[in-house]
Amino acid sequence: MRTFLYSGLGTVLVAGAVFAPGNIATAAASPDISVTNTKAHLDQFQSIATGNGGNRAAGRPGYKASADWVKAKLDAAGSHLDSVSAGPGINDNGSGSAGVLETALAYAAGGQTPRNRLRFGFWGAEELGLVGSRYYVNNLPAAERDRIELYLNFDMIASPNPGYFVYDDNPAGNGARDDLVAYFTQQNVQTEFIDVQGRSDHAAFRSLGIPTAGTFAGAEETKTSAQAAKWGGTAGQAFDRCYQRSCDTISNLDLTSLDHQIDAIGHMIWIYTQKDYTAN
Ligand code: PHE
Ligand code: CA
Ligand code: ZN
Repeated sequence: MRTFLYSGLGTVLVAGAVFAPGNIATAAASPDISVTNTKAHLDQFQSIATGNGGNRAAGRPGYKASADWVKAKLDAAGSHLDSVSAGPGINDNGSGSAGVLETALAYAAGGQTPRNRLRFGFWGAEELGLVGSRYYVNNLPAAERDRIELYLNFDMIASPNPGYFVYDDNPAGNGARDDLVAYFTQQNVQTEFIDVQGRSDHAAFRSLGIPTAGTFAGAEETKTSAQAAKWGGTAGQAFDRCYQRSCDTISNLDLTSLDHQIDAIGHMIWIYTQKDYTAN
């Protein structure tokens, strides 16, 4: 029995279901995760922020409202959830949270039996120093930690002047980063590796030696002309000019980037839930 764990910022949710042994030769075709539905989740995060003093920061009312709403959506799909939270913004990290939520709902609706256990995590207080994800890993029994084969992180996936960055801090430990690159390549999207240096929740898992991988559309860094040539957008401007600012609203999104990214999340979930870790 293996655990496959996957995340955006916000909460902890476990969507269990243990695999059946035996060979499932090929994973089902990669799903088309709905950008319309994902955008609707972001509209909801925006209304929650608007109705709660303009933010969804940890410990504030907008945080609890975000958590309650995510929990309600997940409960409706039969999943299990505890302790939710959210980042302050729509791109950072409403985008990863909405994409993970929509993928979880799509996975549940698909009714597949995963070979590996799958957990969807929505961490709180990332912005305060990865508090939620660190708390989670510190409180995992050792036997549970040992079962985690992979942690995937999706933080800031719809930046308005987007890049397509992939990272993983344990390149020797798993091929997940390569799988992400291969998926984007198949979609005719070029990627770049980036060392995000522990700036997001995967760091908590990495520190335990768990393989991690993730994607990132860019934050305060400036897009170069070479990057604009391959990805479009504006050279000489930040990937996200509203990074951690009050203008990180529902207008601060690139929906094409979001759509590519959520389909990549779906692809990874579909292949890794079926991966045979006992084979090697
Ligand atoms: N969430 C990070 C922050 O707020 C930004 C980030 C996301 C950095 C993903 C790297 C990778 O600082
Ligand atoms: Ca899609
Ligand atoms: Zn952030």
